[in-house]
Amino acid sequence: MEAIKVKSRAKINLTLDVLRRREDGFHELEMVMQSLKLYDSITVEKTTQEGVFLQVNLPYLPTDARNLAFLAAKKMQEAYGLTGGVKIGLTKRIPVAAGLAGGSGNAAAVLVAMNRLYDLGLSLQELMKLGLSLGSDVPYCLLGKTALARGRGEILEELPDCPHFYVVLAKPDFGVSTGAVFRALRTEKIGRHPNTAAMLRALQTADRTEICQNLENVLEPVTFQMQPQVAKIKLFLQEQGAQGVLMSGSGPTVFALFDQKEQAQAAAEKTKEAWKLGTVLVTETVDEGEQGYGLSL
Ligand code: C5P
Repeated sequence: MEAIKVKSRAKINLTLDVLRRREDGFHELEMVMQSLKLYDSITVEKTTQEGVFLQVNLPYLPTDARNLAFLAAKKMQEAYGLTGGVKIGLTKRIPVAAGLAGGSGNAAAVLVAMNRLYDLGLSLQELMKLGLSLGSDVPYCLLGKTALARGRGEILEELPDCPHFYVVLAKPDFGVSTGAVFRALRTEKIGRHPNTAAMLRALQTADRTEICQNLENVLEPVTFQMQPQVAKIKLFLQEQGAQGVLMSGSGPTVFALFDQKEQAQAAAEKTKEAWKLGTVLVTETVDEGEQGYGLSL
């Protein structure tokens, strides 16, 4: 039986700004997003038996409606009256509950795979609309690449590709709830906002130094307050000679950018050893041509 295999890439935030709290409880955001080489693999195939059958390589992850990949498949079946069922195989490499949009990326990958598997011919806009009902980062994950995200995260603009960096990802051995971080955020008390315009200029001119100097995330102080170890890991990575260091999303993963692979690997080893972390990875920003699903705005 026909099966579709897709890559579900991790993302980092080069900037994350919160402009205000909205009436609907969500926050108005402005974020510069970047896809990474690190990916989860997803295969989707049709089954004659009705339903969604999800298999994940990590035994502690749910395989029912608590998993966004499962929900994405259900949404597609309901929205387009698909008959029969789907079997989804998910191999996770992206750390879970980490601020790397792993779950949102999986949902996006399932939408793309089912669009192809059933020849639905849905546009990126249509997939994004479905995706947004699953999570705020899903529309970006459908697009990938370097992009500016506004609104809840669904108003997207493609940006020039970020110059290539090696990326160290260091995740403390606990997850962080995005909802809890946003609830603890006091928008009127945000001290430093990112200079998004400066980051956009830096990308426009491919200025690596300026990109690194303008990394900023307003959720950092909130997560640091809840989990002080995250701030210490950030400082440690700065001391390892990273060009730029920032927490991604609501955390707790901290990423560090390097020019040289050897330097990134050495920093990753030292960080793992010093903080006894289970999850320290070296990856890269993705090169042109390897980004996204070939869907354009
Ligand atoms: O949309 P998603 O389920 O990923 O969001 C998780 C939580 O993060 C939401 O329930 C909300 O509390 C918070 N959030 C927000 N504003 C956004 C995105 C997420 O307040 N733009």
